[in-house]
Amino acid sequence: MYTPQEEKQLAQLLSTLLHQLKDQQQKEEQNISLEQKLKQLRQALRYAEWRYYVINDPVISDYEYDQLFHHLQQIENQHPEWITPDSPTQRIASGLIEEFPTVSHLTPMLSLDNSYNAADLRDWDRRVKELAGISTVEYCIEPKYDGASISLIYENNMLVRGATRGDGVRGDDITPNIKQIKAIPLSANFANLGIRRVEIRGEVLMHKDTFKALNEQRLSENLPPFANPRNATSGSLRMVDPREVAKRKLQAVLYQISFLEMNNGQSIPQALLTQSGTLHTLHRLGFPTPVSLVKVVHNIDEAIRFLEEFEQLRDSLPYEIDGMVIKVNDLRLQEKIGATTHHPRWAIAFKFKARQATSVLRKVEFQVGRTGTITPVAKIDPVPIGGVTVSSISLFNEDVIREKDLRIGDTVLVERAGDVIPYIVKPITELRTGKEKPIQFPQNCPVCGDPLVKSSGEVAWRCVNINCEAQVLERMIHFVSKDAMDIKHLGEANVRRFYELGLLRTIPDIYRLDYNKIKKLEGFGEKSVHNLQQAIEASKKQPLHRLIFALGIRYVGETTARTLADAIEHLPELQRWSVEQLMQLKDIGPKVATSIYEFFHNPDNLHLIQELEKLGVNTYRSKQDQQPIGKLNGLSFLFTGTLPHLKRQEAEALVEQLGGKIASSVSRSLNYLVVGDDPGSKLEKARQIPTVKIINEKQFLELIDQAKNR
Ligand code: IVH
Repeated sequence: MYTPQEEKQLAQLLSTLLHQLKDQQQKEEQNISLEQKLKQLRQALRYAEWRYYVINDPVISDYEYDQLFHHLQQIENQHPEWITPDSPTQRIASGLIEEFPTVSHLTPMLSLDNSYNAADLRDWDRRVKELAGISTVEYCIEPKYDGASISLIYENNMLVRGATRGDGVRGDDITPNIKQIKAIPLSANFANLGIRRVEIRGEVLMHKDTFKALNEQRLSENLPPFANPRNATSGSLRMVDPREVAKRKLQAVLYQISFLEMNNGQSIPQALLTQSGTLHTLHRLGFPTPVSLVKVVHNIDEAIRFLEEFEQLRDSLPYEIDGMVIKVNDLRLQEKIGATTHHPRWAIAFKFKARQATSVLRKVEFQVGRTGTITPVAKIDPVPIGGVTVSSISLFNEDVIREKDLRIGDTVLVERAGDVIPYIVKPITELRTGKEKPIQFPQNCPVCGDPLVKSSGEVAWRCVNINCEAQVLERMIHFVSKDAMDIKHLGEANVRRFYELGLLRTIPDIYRLDYNKIKKLEGFGEKSVHNLQQAIEASKKQPLHRLIFALGIRYVGETTARTLADAIEHLPELQRWSVEQLMQLKDIGPKVATSIYEFFHNPDNLHLIQELEKLGVNTYRSKQDQQPIGKLNGLSFLFTGTLPHLKRQEAEALVEQLGGKIASSVSRSLNYLVVGDDPGSKLEKARQIPTVKIINEKQFLELIDQAKNR
């Protein structure tokens, strides 16, 4: 897409524009016309989007992006006549989609034939050679992305239509929703290649970490979770409010040109005569096409070796793939080989081993969450799936049990997709013996015995006794957890242990622990007690948004907690906020507002906050809390080995203070691996992923310094 020189210029332009923005308040005059400025802003924002969404290597922070975006919006508001359909502002849609019109694809969207082993592939290779009438065929191999297929049409460089696959001949026009996917360019320079109209095929995806967060959010709102990223993606593409689609953070991969109309007198460029050339061309035009994952091979043996190697990489990708696709590389040869009505004969999918297994559902346990929600958990005979033994699977709520018609004793099909939590796909009804028993959902809380309630419009049963032991314990576990107060040495196991021993009954007790008693417990030495005490002490200084999240207010996730923390100076102020006032805040609707209101009108909760305050826990918003938070927004870090000067905790805190994230493992979404002495296997893994930057402590500190002074 960009030459290194262009990249340098654009990065420079971004920085200049940001500086100008800062200076603007003082001196309005700048030496270029508004129209020129508009052009620069669009160019720079498009480049920033490309770096962020297409190559996953951001050049500016989210906050800086927003600033430039608003500036562009301001100018466009003054001069609507200058708005172009491919301005970054034009992704935003207003209003709801009334219907998705049915549209015809320019060429049918076929399926792929499947293969499962080397023998299948050799058979296919033989048929290809027969049909092609030649003895050596070059193949292009690429991942089989597990998402929702789409077709895009660009006319005179502009994206004019985005559609779903539908029945392969006709799909739904979902253009406004497609425009919410920032990785998909609104325009691309096809004219440069002599192209007037083009249809491009690809897949919309949801990254695994986005999927995980989405499901957590849905569960906290008592909405049914999505079974896997693919379902979440398809569901997202059909939402009637494009602004909601934008929040789903969808990604895309484009891999095929299925229709091409050249401008008068132009012939098809050489590069578009092969599949690999097509992928490189799409990549150069700014499309999200991961060319680094593509390989051209000269015979089927080489293909088979590559497939085996690639399967190891499967988990390190940020999204799901369910196999690879092997395609005849020469497009003219593809045409000669042809297709059935169902699938092309010039391509075949090689499916990776399914991460599914069957097991027997033995019983269902009912767990009480911190907000009293009852979650049924299936206990199955332990079964290995994709390298992990699965024995416990959340069934989420009663409706899921009913919809799937699950019964005790059923043989069930279980799926585990990558690092996504396992789920029960369905019972195998053919194997029923008649002895299976229906699952009885309890009417009383399994812990405190109080009657369970279900509010209208909700799917979950709840225990509303806020003193229910299970809830009290879960609330404490949440309070100390990593994303809440992050009290390192007081994990779930210790909270449970101290609770059982009577050392800890309420949240404020955390700050009144009797360390003399703890010292006498088995497994605790002088040092571990000291560490525990220090971690608890340190948590008193946590920023306000962490405390708000830690309080476990229903529907208040990390984002809402930040929004609330940004809106106040001192926590008890929230007692004075009405539901209407709360609803004025970003992304807070009536349900969340009511829950916050109720929390701050419950005397027990106010007492809890008072007690925490007395014990020295910070309840004020500090400077560091305020937006703009992160100069490292969107960047992820991981550490391996012992750093020469910094403690691991200190280094992680530096990253988090600047809005960066600590990754849990090496994957393609990791930006930096910081390597100390005696690094672990992470280093080896990172070396295989060219996009991960491997740095040492010195380089890390320089980066932090730069970020601070930016
Ligand atoms: S090429 C004419 N390439 O898999 C066939 N398809 O099971 C064109 N898919 O409908 C398909 N990754 O939605 C192709 N790299 C890839 C793919 C891919 C995923 C999907 C596609 C297709 C389905 C077939």
